[in-house]
Amino acid sequence: MCGIVGYLGDLRATDVILSGLKKLEYRGYDSCGICFHDQTSGNFLTYKDKGRVNHLISDFDYGFTNHFGIGHTRWATHGAPNHINSHPHASASGRFVIVHNGVIENYKELIARYLPAISFVSETDTEVIANLIEYFAVSYPVDLAIRKTLAILEGSYALLIIDTRNPKVLYAGKNKSPLLCGYRNDGICLASDLMALVGVSSDYYVIEDKTFVKVEVADSGYQFSMYDPIGIEYTPMRHEVNLNDDEINKAGFPHYMLKEICEQPSVIRKIMTNYIVDGKFFVDQDILDMFANRKRLYILAAGTSMHAGFVGKALFENITKIPTEVFIASEFAYNKPLLEEDAVFILISQSGETADLRACLVDVKKMGYDTLTITNVKTSTLAREATKFLEIFAGPEIAVASTKAYVGQIAILSILAYVLADKPKIDLIKELSKLAVAMEAIIDKREYIHDLVKNHLVKRNCFYIGRGIDYYTCLEAALKLKEISYIQTEGFAAGELKHGTIALIEQDVPVIAIITQNHIDKNTRSNIQEVRARGADVLIISTNHTMKAEDDIVLMDVHYLLSPALAVIPTQLIAYYKALDLGRDIDKPRNLAKSVTVE
Ligand code: AGP
Ligand code: GLU
Repeated sequence: MCGIVGYLGDLRATDVILSGLKKLEYRGYDSCGICFHDQTSGNFLTYKDKGRVNHLISDFDYGFTNHFGIGHTRWATHGAPNHINSHPHASASGRFVIVHNGVIENYKELIARYLPAISFVSETDTEVIANLIEYFAVSYPVDLAIRKTLAILEGSYALLIIDTRNPKVLYAGKNKSPLLCGYRNDGICLASDLMALVGVSSDYYVIEDKTFVKVEVADSGYQFSMYDPIGIEYTPMRHEVNLNDDEINKAGFPHYMLKEICEQPSVIRKIMTNYIVDGKFFVDQDILDMFANRKRLYILAAGTSMHAGFVGKALFENITKIPTEVFIASEFAYNKPLLEEDAVFILISQSGETADLRACLVDVKKMGYDTLTITNVKTSTLAREATKFLEIFAGPEIAVASTKAYVGQIAILSILAYVLADKPKIDLIKELSKLAVAMEAIIDKREYIHDLVKNHLVKRNCFYIGRGIDYYTCLEAALKLKEISYIQTEGFAAGELKHGTIALIEQDVPVIAIITQNHIDKNTRSNIQEVRARGADVLIISTNHTMKAEDDIVLMDVHYLLSPALAVIPTQLIAYYKALDLGRDIDKPRNLAKSVTVE
């Protein structure tokens, strides 16, 4: 989780680090901190703040000249989100200062074995790393002391390390947590996310797991070297920093979430542009071969991506006729079901860094399965480590609540199902184009949805109900409302409510029903009567072909298999406006972070 940025170069380091941290704040925002070399005094200064990066920027003096430093924005795993636990952390003598993204699983064993006499200041696993480096530095040169430390750490880490005796070298280590190395002639920036490199670096390099990195000033300029665990230097893959500021700012919207909701029609069109060649959908032949004649597909994902996975199941089973199962990644990782041998695993992940999924990937690869990652971040760990990957092309998604990536995932799954089918009974180019138009129509009515929200959703709990493919939308709708408004919400199979949960329905409890399918229209409407009879305040989302006079939001008709990508939009807007009216921190809801890189 968390964001880290380190810089050594000609620019003012604190500017690069603080503006990078601001861009990475969506990765974790419990607290933040920075350590930099102040050239006026010749000292390293460390500032921390329990609040947001804005405070870190405004509350401290960064002096005139500084060219070297590291910074962190935290999502706490070990110890409360407070000033003491916030990074950077220093070794007992203060010599080594580090920031860390990840979790060290064996930190207690390491304390017992190497550091029994140290009295730790914080509750973090991170402070142990700083002290281990110091422990080994007593007997070894710094490079080796760091490498010895990295070798005994179990778990995930992206680490930036300063030796305060040497303001000309920045050290780093990486395992499982993401870390990129941005390069420009006048400086080198290490960061956990591409966004921090925009405007600072022209090229970047993806750092492999178990790498030790050294960034230094040499006669020829700034240089970096990367070493594998045995100490052999390797040349990493170079990429261009191809994001620009327009893609990562709010473009006049009050929140990233609203911007990203409004971008959804263009995401569908962008995906079509990227996957249509000569008027036909095109997917790499290697991927088609990998899926050829498979008896079963398994989808692994978490949260919103898992909800897209459920829609994927409907798409694959209807279009390709291949039985498909969806698993929660964190459950699958440690509780394997009986598996078909002739199968392919599809991993869906916006960030491509979700640790629960990575644990699954490692396992299913060991079991000999082919894997395909569907991700929005083509340089991500899951993209690199799966047999193949497909890019979502949704553009950076910055709001913690996922919106455009979800509809992008559905679009990619539909394209994959389409190209795998023998004779697909769907004109997908036409249907996706229709979907984009229908999305625009509902987004244009967003102020009307805001009015609906003002007059409803007054209680502290809420239900979404639907059947079949609409039930999947209910799951996603409920997650969205929960995560940004903090209203307890359940997505429920409409017919299942009466088997117990209906006991929770009382006067004015909001129940939002989704009805996009004719064949379940009558049944869901009966369930609506049941909750109305018990006082529920019902809102109905339907489509032109399922609508009745009583309905509140009516969507244009789209292909039934794509309807979740449309029906989700009013629910995203409901969540957004409810959170807005409640004064919630919409883009950075409490306790969450954008990319969940710990299990
Ligand atoms: C959804 O709004 C959340 N951000 C969350 O459920 C998310 O979808 C989940 O953590 C999985 O993330 P991923 O798609 O990056 O793997
Ligand atoms: N485990 C560390 C902590 O709790 C790092 C967490 C993070 O990745 O932000 O401070």
